[in-house]
Amino acid sequence: MKGKGGFLSIGKKLPGSEARMWIKKDNRFVSQSYTRAYPLVVKRGKGMTIEDVDGNIFLDFTSGIATCSTGHCHPSVVEAITRQAGELIHMSGTDFYYPSQIKLAERLAKITPGNRNKRVFFGNSGAEAIEAAFKLARYHTKREMFIAFYGSFHGRTMGALSLTASKAVQRRYFNPLIPGVRHAPYAYCYRCHYNLTYPGCDIECVKWIRDVLFTNTIPPEEVAAIVVEPIQGEGGYVVPPKEFHTRLYSLAKEFGILYIADEVQSGMGRTGKMLASEHFGIKPDIITLAKGIASGMPVGAMVASSGIMDWIPGSHASTFGGNPVSCEAALVTIDLIQNELMENAAEIGEYLLNRLEEMKKEYEIIGDVRGKGLMIGIELVRDRETKEPADKEREKIIQRCFEKGLLLLGCGKNSVRFMPPLVVSRIDADTALSIFEEVLSEVEKKRCL
Ligand SMILES: Cc1ncc(COP(=O)(O)O)c(C=O)c1O
Repeated sequence: MKGKGGFLSIGKKLPGSEARMWIKKDNRFVSQSYTRAYPLVVKRGKGMTIEDVDGNIFLDFTSGIATCSTGHCHPSVVEAITRQAGELIHMSGTDFYYPSQIKLAERLAKITPGNRNKRVFFGNSGAEAIEAAFKLARYHTKREMFIAFYGSFHGRTMGALSLTASKAVQRRYFNPLIPGVRHAPYAYCYRCHYNLTYPGCDIECVKWIRDVLFTNTIPPEEVAAIVVEPIQGEGGYVVPPKEFHTRLYSLAKEFGILYIADEVQSGMGRTGKMLASEHFGIKPDIITLAKGIASGMPVGAMVASSGIMDWIPGSHASTFGGNPVSCEAALVTIDLIQNELMENAAEIGEYLLNRLEEMKKEYEIIGDVRGKGLMIGIELVRDRETKEPADKEREKIIQRCFEKGLLLLGCGKNSVRFMPPLVVSRIDADTALSIFEEVLSEVEKKRCL
């Protein structure tokens, strides 16, 4: 079948024979802890498209989980990787110096909110960036406790997992985790924990931290940091009101608590600004970055003001962190994001949001549409009054979109996320919307039978 937009090409049967062979082998040898939404076995990617091992061509609205920010195999990124790989692949920035790591640190200090007086710790992943932030917050404040939020996802290493409160399956049988973390409700206004409505709620979720947590269980002077995603990612692409962050930030400052913004998913131009924190006017003490930073090459970064990063040599390090190839890929990625892609993310993001809002009027199953830039969540419900989560329908919709050539992923219990590479065009957006709408109408029709 030739799909809409002309560039999609999907065979009669998915998965094809080659894909089935690889999946069988995967089932035998690869950890079954991974969560594959559908049987896609990837051969190559270019720009917005993914070709599978049977020659099917899909439109990618996942970016390899918000990671391939400049699209698949952007020629400038490939050129930088190839050039650097021919010169130096690894020497370990923890024990030696090399220019690409220093250049990237300087660049990150410049493009993150606040003054440039910052330092950067390099790891290889989001979890490692969070782990570093966790350790630095304890080291700097000499305090033990942390506050994080329900619905948050910060990674799966033990420190990061202690902060994560997304799905029980991610924690089951892994206890005891790192002691000292307490969770509070996030500003998830569509399903307010307190059954209140913004703005009349007066941001009860922040007041609760002061009035209940700090009064009854956690002395605020024992809290090292509040760790928060500016926009919740895995938890459902939840965009809080601006005051949630500004008040949380003020609360943190009042008690000498560090404000750690986890921008692993929301950062690097995805929301139409370099960091999502900028939408809320926040200058975090510590910022964690990964995913979109290097167009798919592994690098995680923890950026902190120099006054906070006061640990001594030997206190933290990572052999592979900030390897030269990843750093060069990151430098080119940042150029591309700053020069054109951030603006494109804002423009196409707004277009997608408006079109999805229109679709919401037609399709009862859409309970909520929210997002900033190309971080868009569509929450699906069985009933708009009761807001009963349409979780099974969500799986069906993602599966059918795959069969029609559109790659999507879910988030939260019952939301679909649109997180295309930042190179997405208006034509790509229209193609994705028309497949999505076709599938919504199919699923709604079935519900009516
Ligand atoms: C906000 C956030 N923080 C941290 C992580 C963990 O990143 P990684 O999977 O690279 O360890 C993720 C991954 O989805 C994330 O979305």
